[in-house]
Amino acid sequence: MNSPLAPDVEAALSVVVLRCVECAACYPGVEENRSSRYRCDCGGVLDVEHPFVSHPASISSARTAWRQLFDERAAIPPIWPAGDNRTLLDYSGVWRYRELILPVPEQYVVSRPEGNTGLYPVGKENCGAGRTGHRQIGLYAGVDHLFLKHEGENPTGSFKDRGMTVGVTMASLLGAQAVACASTGNTSASLASYAAQAGMRSLVFLPAGNVASGKLAQSLAYGATTIQVAGDFDDAMRLVERVCDELGIYLLNSLNPFRIEGQKAIGFEILQQLRWLAPDWLVLPAGNLGNTSAIGKAFRQAQQLSLINRMPRFAAIQAAGANPFYRSFTRGFERREQVNASTVASAIKIGNPVSYTRARRVIEESDGIVEEVTDAEILAAKTIIDRAGIGCEPASAATLAGIRKLVERGVISHHECVVGILTGHLLKDSQTGMPQQGSVVVETNIEAVRRVLLA
Ligand code: F0G
Repeated sequence: MNSPLAPDVEAALSVVVLRCVECAACYPGVEENRSSRYRCDCGGVLDVEHPFVSHPASISSARTAWRQLFDERAAIPPIWPAGDNRTLLDYSGVWRYRELILPVPEQYVVSRPEGNTGLYPVGKENCGAGRTGHRQIGLYAGVDHLFLKHEGENPTGSFKDRGMTVGVTMASLLGAQAVACASTGNTSASLASYAAQAGMRSLVFLPAGNVASGKLAQSLAYGATTIQVAGDFDDAMRLVERVCDELGIYLLNSLNPFRIEGQKAIGFEILQQLRWLAPDWLVLPAGNLGNTSAIGKAFRQAQQLSLINRMPRFAAIQAAGANPFYRSFTRGFERREQVNASTVASAIKIGNPVSYTRARRVIEESDGIVEEVTDAEILAAKTIIDRAGIGCEPASAATLAGIRKLVERGVISHHECVVGILTGHLLKDSQTGMPQQGSVVVETNIEAVRRVLLA
């Protein structure tokens, strides 16, 4: 990665700083020798900062202008002339908020585009006459005003595309020839797709035998060099960090702070869909903790910019067999726990989450909570979401299982406004939690159909 940066890129990135979330040490967004830095010298993970949010005082009066800008961009019709780059960026549910994401010259952005995912009103009171089937979800959760944000509606079927458009854009700006990640399947699918678009080689490291077939198929189809590691996700994560360091490959796990910047857009888009009113609760599944960190940062920045006047409370939901963050939380975050992870929700089968410190901050500053749910609770919640016609992959259903549990425990009250994130598409994992009795084959006559309907 040694050819010089284009002058416009260099100027844009010169305002970007990376700050350690442990010791607050600062590094330039792009190092002089163009080597890539993912951690502080102290080992801590890094956070991207740039002036739009470093100096909130100078822009807090501009709340109306920000809202107007984002609302104008969101008013673009869904069909536009292909090849119109500016319109593509305005339409993207990530780059629409580009001033708050990453200041790069527009022509370099690698975007499908992504985002613009549905925010389904599914509560007992807010589901509306045309959605009576969705109301089952609100009844199950015990919440009057509930919304599900379906990030499975992104181009590769998960929320990862939001971080990846920014990560691969950075890789491309830096002149990376190859990009890599460790993954439980969704990050790898997204990386493979965006790398292919940008004409880069991609390498993905997967825990052998623990990736749902739909996700594995995507990586292979998009042309990633797909390496199955004889170990779990945490082993694959350690390996990929070493591989990237030693072979000079650009690392695109959420350890890479630019990925987090893109994932923030989930928070901005929710706010825009709620007409810039923060919900009372934001509930999401938690594995490597990148998403908790990113959406938390989005709401924090939205508050700094006066786009909203309070943060929602965050509830991060873990599978009971993969619950290191929950264990730390229940001990007052005294120390960072690790576990040998085991859960049917393979996407969140993670025992040593990389973004622990970033996510801990979100839970603490939002007066949030970490909860655990069993595999049985996850699968029961998935059935409810699937039967309502929305559908999701198992890890996503931890969101609904968690909301129901927190309502039962009296932590969330039924009249509060709750937004839950569904992180991945039903077709990602078409095995786990599917109905046992398959479809029936009948003779081609009406009597045979009658017998089926009466059975
Ligand atoms: N839900 C799904 C469907 C996921 O794929 C992931 C993470 C999560 C939730 C948890 O998000 O890690 O930000 O806390 N998947 C990563 C991957 C680990 O490799 O695809 P997180």
